[in-house]
Amino acid sequence: MKQGALSLAVLSGAVSTAWAALNVDFGSTDSIKAAAKDVAFDALSYYKGNESGEIPGLLGDEPFLGGKYYWWSGSVQWSTLIDYWYYTGDDSYNSVVSQGLLHQRGPNNDFMPPNATASLSNDDQGFWGIAAMQAAELDFPASSIDWANLSRNVWTTQVRRFQQEEKDETCDGGLRWQILPTNVGFDYKNTISNAAFINLGARLGRWTGNATYVEWADRAWTWLTDIGFLTEDFSAYDGAHVGANCTDINKAEFSYSAGLLLQSAAFLYNQTTGDDQKRWRDRVTGLTKTILDKFFEEGYHYEIACEGRDDACTPDMLFFKGMVTRNLASTVQLAPFTKDAISKVLKTNAEAAVKTCTGGDNNRQCSFSWAKGKFDNETDIPSQLNTLSALTVLLQDEVSQKGIATNATSNPDGGSDGGNGSGSNGNGNGNGNGQGQNGNGNGNGDGGSAGTTTRVTVGVLVAGLFAALL
Ligand SMILES: *[C@@H]1O[C@H](CO)[C@@H](O)[C@H](O)[C@H]1NC(C)=O
Ligand SMILES: *[C@@H]1O[C@H](CO)[C@@H](O)[C@H](O)[C@H]1NC(C)=O
Ligand SMILES: *[C@@H]1O[C@H](CO)[C@@H](O)[C@H](O)[C@H]1NC(C)=O
Ligand SMILES: *[C@@H]1O[C@H](CO)[C@@H](O)[C@H](O)[C@H]1NC(C)=O
Ligand SMILES: *[C@@H]1O[C@H](CO)[C@@H](O)[C@H](O)[C@H]1NC(C)=O
Ligand SMILES: *[C@@H]1O[C@H](CO)[C@@H](O)[C@H](O)[C@H]1NC(C)=O
Ligand SMILES: *[C@@H]1O[C@H](CO)[C@@H](O)[C@H](O)[C@H]1NC(C)=O
Ligand SMILES: *[C@@H]1O[C@H](CO)[C@@H](O)[C@H](O)[C@H]1NC(C)=O
Ligand SMILES: *[C@@H]1O[C@H](CO)[C@@H](O)[C@H](O)[C@H]1NC(C)=O
Repeated sequence: MKQGALSLAVLSGAVSTAWAALNVDFGSTDSIKAAAKDVAFDALSYYKGNESGEIPGLLGDEPFLGGKYYWWSGSVQWSTLIDYWYYTGDDSYNSVVSQGLLHQRGPNNDFMPPNATASLSNDDQGFWGIAAMQAAELDFPASSIDWANLSRNVWTTQVRRFQQEEKDETCDGGLRWQILPTNVGFDYKNTISNAAFINLGARLGRWTGNATYVEWADRAWTWLTDIGFLTEDFSAYDGAHVGANCTDINKAEFSYSAGLLLQSAAFLYNQTTGDDQKRWRDRVTGLTKTILDKFFEEGYHYEIACEGRDDACTPDMLFFKGMVTRNLASTVQLAPFTKDAISKVLKTNAEAAVKTCTGGDNNRQCSFSWAKGKFDNETDIPSQLNTLSALTVLLQDEVSQKGIATNATSNPDGGSDGGNGSGSNGNGNGNGNGQGQNGNGNGNGDGGSAGTTTRVTVGVLVAGLFAALL
């Protein structure tokens, strides 16, 4: 260790602080694991939720309270770290993960904590449900917790909403973006909310073997295509307004919509047979091609709707790269025929990500824009999480024997790591704004970005912002 490194380590209170840029030998599993460990450590260095007086599960206050990231983003950190544990076996963060997830599960175990109502939309709730489902499927060790039950509860609230939309004949069905009528964005139906509902259905179907979930996933998928949000060539558009009967389609394409649909199709492919399986296989193939062509043209993830425009990537969009990386990786597992096409891109993607990891106090923090090929002075939680996912998914061979469990094969106590996840202290209620009301506007101030996103949340979003981008 060089002298400078020592003082750096002392300053940051971190023994594992490295001196130089993140160096990875991509031919070595050990090297990839060691780098992932550093990147995970740096990601967690931003997390305060497990400290006294802070709120577990969240990445700080939401933007309308002066913070940086919305409520849903916490779920991305937990999903990323569950995968980190799954691929590397490092259980250092397992209890922090369980505590965070469980604290946000809400009084009804369906990820609708009253504190979050001001920004809580169907996709947000869905992403937390997806993180819990992932914990179930990967046998995340927290033996006393029925993770899949949390996901099932999310699905149950959403299927009721979907049925209500069908009954009301607004756009012939489909989930709205927002859950509460008082929230701006309740009049918008979007792809990502429906994709999250499909994803949960696809996974609960595989988990339980109960056909009801698969039927609903199929039904919501059909709605997405009928309404024109998902095209024949597998472009996934953002959404449209109820007032226009969903004909005013905003054709902006965000990678995470296509990514989530791809992973859903892979889960459905994996559990079906015959003609049904053929149908899902075609969708897996089509979406894989679209995603690799549109978002990975140069071999690494480039978020076409916002990168390259000054500050056009909103805080939400900063998380998409890691999410899509993980969608692609589980597609390889569930639909192995995609392996050749996807795996080589995962490698070039990780190489591009790591090139940016030369910044921050310890000279190894990563940044968001992989196209720049170097650190660009911007580093924060999403950049660390994106790079962490990019690295961990390269460890496919480490998990090929583990597979993805179902309720019948699940064995969360079977692992040797035994991380104790019963860290819930779960009051989960908080400031008692009860059900429904809240939706407190809190002003405007869209921050003047390119003016579109699925989730410029409450009060930030005004209907006119949804001008088509493309
Ligand atoms: C919070 O979690 C981090 C990461 O595991 C850990 O280093 C830190 O000690 C924890 N803080 C508290 C107060 O438990
Ligand atoms: C599942 O969640 C429901 C709703 O909160 C709860 O009533 C039930 O006890 C839970 N079941 C398990 C096994 O955790
Ligand atoms: C998983 O199986 C157990 C035992 O059959 C059952 O009690 C439980 O409800 C199932 N969980 C889900 C989410 O279906
Ligand atoms: C709304 O659109 C759906 C299909 O997209 C169509 O079936 C329905 O008739 C339309 N309703 C109105 C009132 O135009
Ligand atoms: C299948 O799942 C649906 C939706 O949760 C539930 O209503 C139904 O009872 C389940 N069927 C069986 C046989 O468990
Ligand atoms: C990044 O920081 C370096 C060192 O402080 C500085 O020289 C450079 O101009 C900065 N670049 C940008 C794009 O801000
Ligand atoms: C389903 O997924 C598992 C991974 O858990 C994989 O081993 C299996 O080959 C997949 N099935 C099909 C039909 O591709
Ligand atoms: C986990 O920790 C809690 C509290 O420290 C303890 O009560 C529980 O028995 C532990 N569970 C396991 C599976 O180790
Ligand atoms: C809700 O807010 C209260 C007060 O800040 C906090 O104590 C509680 O942990 C929060 N609950 C959730 C689920 O975030």
